[in-house]
Amino acid sequence: MQPLHRDLYRAFVDQGLDTWLARLPEQLARGLDRKRYGDLPAWEKAVAKLPPLPEDRRVVLDADTVTVEADLDASRRRQGENLLRALAPWRKGPYRLGGVHIDTEWRSDWKWQRVAPHLAPLSGRRVLDVGGGNGYHAWRMAGAGASFVLVIDPSPRFYWQFQAVRHFVGDADGGAVHFLPVGIEDVPEDLAFFDTVFSMGVLYHRPSPLEHLAQLRAALRPGGELVLETLVVEGDATTVLLPGDRYAAMPNVYFLPSSAALCTWLERGGFENVRVVDEADTPLDEQRATDWMTFQSLADFLDPDDPTKTREGHPAPRRAVVIANRPA
Ligand SMILES: C[S@@+](CC[C@H](N)C(=O)[O-])C[C@H]1O[C@@H](n2cnc3c(N)ncnc32)[C@H](O)[C@@H]1O
Repeated sequence: MQPLHRDLYRAFVDQGLDTWLARLPEQLARGLDRKRYGDLPAWEKAVAKLPPLPEDRRVVLDADTVTVEADLDASRRRQGENLLRALAPWRKGPYRLGGVHIDTEWRSDWKWQRVAPHLAPLSGRRVLDVGGGNGYHAWRMAGAGASFVLVIDPSPRFYWQFQAVRHFVGDADGGAVHFLPVGIEDVPEDLAFFDTVFSMGVLYHRPSPLEHLAQLRAALRPGGELVLETLVVEGDATTVLLPGDRYAAMPNVYFLPSSAALCTWLERGGFENVRVVDEADTPLDEQRATDWMTFQSLADFLDPDDPTKTREGHPAPRRAVVIANRPA
């Protein structure tokens, strides 16, 4: 068994996640299937070749840039940078790893700034981050004191970006953070385990949003907290936009409710204490092309003559953070 997998299995044993543990071999094999994902061997090799790090590194998980300072000579630093670039595009961050600043497409720290002040304190909590990307927010959750953070995301590129960051962080998070390359549909039914479940930037990608909410609820222990961040539109409790073919060039966007409609969905879905804690238009400098993500980004997806609209004529991206509880 690979050492990376060994840590994951050990964490599941320690957490008493027995029913899920039995499914890990199949889930890992499927999520990292080289026949499905041709780039996997190259990503795995890049992470394996990252330069070894000195013991005395400085790890910062509670600042906007997830940072690992380590004294690497110029050639090792260059080697590290080239290998990190082999995992591009880097969408979620920012990171600073061994002297290399990864200026990601998203300022994911801005999202965290909107979310973090409203959370039940994460200290000692067991957290699930559904669709957690490469794990940027998971490191921030560990930095805020969470004792166990599991990222699930079906993207194998994000899995290897996470493992690259893990190489730099080492055990400075106390082994709290883990990544399983699967989707929400792979979480065992009625788990009722996590103290906090995050679903950020995922709901609008789900063809059945009410089913997604039910899956999130089932993963929470009674009394646990859901943190839902998603695209919304302006309107009242009856307003929901189905953008059709594409939204801001994305083909896989299904339902964009108003925040009032979203609250209704949550209440109908068996959540209580539902509250909107933040709602704002997405600024252009929150999602932009950089040296680490050189493809088109938000500015290219908006109407050049009217940036309040996407190029398909829909309202430009606006995001809400809603918090709710599973009844105790
Ligand atoms: C827009 S990104 C959001 C990433 C991060 N949570 C954030 O807020 O910055 C959506 C993520 O959902 C993941 N995803 C896609 N299908 C999923 C599924 N069935 N279950 C969980 N995550 C999924 C994608 O791989 C992607 O990383």
